[in-house]
Amino acid sequence: MRIDILTLFPEIMEGSFSASIMKRAQEKGYAEIHLHNIRDYSTNKHKKVDDYQYGGGAGMVMAIEPIAAVIEKLKTERLYDEIIYMSPDGVVLDQAICNQFSVVNNLMILCGHYKGVDERVREHYITKEISIGSYVLSGGELAAAVLVDAVVRLIPGVLNDETSALTDSFQDNLLSPPVYTRPPEFNGWKVPDVLLSGDFNKIDKWREEQALERTKQRRPDLLE
Ligand code: ADE
Repeated sequence: MRIDILTLFPEIMEGSFSASIMKRAQEKGYAEIHLHNIRDYSTNKHKKVDDYQYGGGAGMVMAIEPIAAVIEKLKTERLYDEIIYMSPDGVVLDQAICNQFSVVNNLMILCGHYKGVDERVREHYITKEISIGSYVLSGGELAAAVLVDAVVRLIPGVLNDETSALTDSFQDNLLSPPVYTRPPEFNGWKVPDVLLSGDFNKIDKWREEQALERTKQRRPDLLE
């Protein structure tokens, strides 16, 4: 999968793509992540990318010309499955949406800043608007990093058996059961006996019960 991210602040995202699973996914060729600085496409002599909003009001708006220039250029190079705008007024991201994105070839993601982008960008170029939750970030970059991480780890081959996405929370609409590692006792706090029993049928059953119980208590909405 190829992912092109359009941003005014590529440095916000660089770290999250250069370690751990995101790094390995790129090294192994499962994902190609390209960051494009929108400012590089400004034809203004001061490299201006924003302007006052028509009708007045506080806050600058990202202008359409440099954004259109990057999008048009990329669109001549390949066909994009989706052109996503990260925005608090988009559809709230969930595991089902991540699963859908994980099987496409080319994604483009636009990160907004300031008061947002000129509405004509959203009307004419954007195919999906995604929010990562009901709160406002300073820009779309952290939200885009969240989306990319959640999608790339689902690309077949990115995770090995040990980190398989099949046992993730949410993959079956259940939260994950609790996990433990050595020592079996710390400060008098014990690992549940069943996990040390060696009886894998019992362990599976215990995990299922715990997952269900945890979901009932913490996220009953997932069971509806
Ligand atoms: N940009 C600012 N806030 C955001 C949010 N909650 N989700 C996605 N993009 C955003």
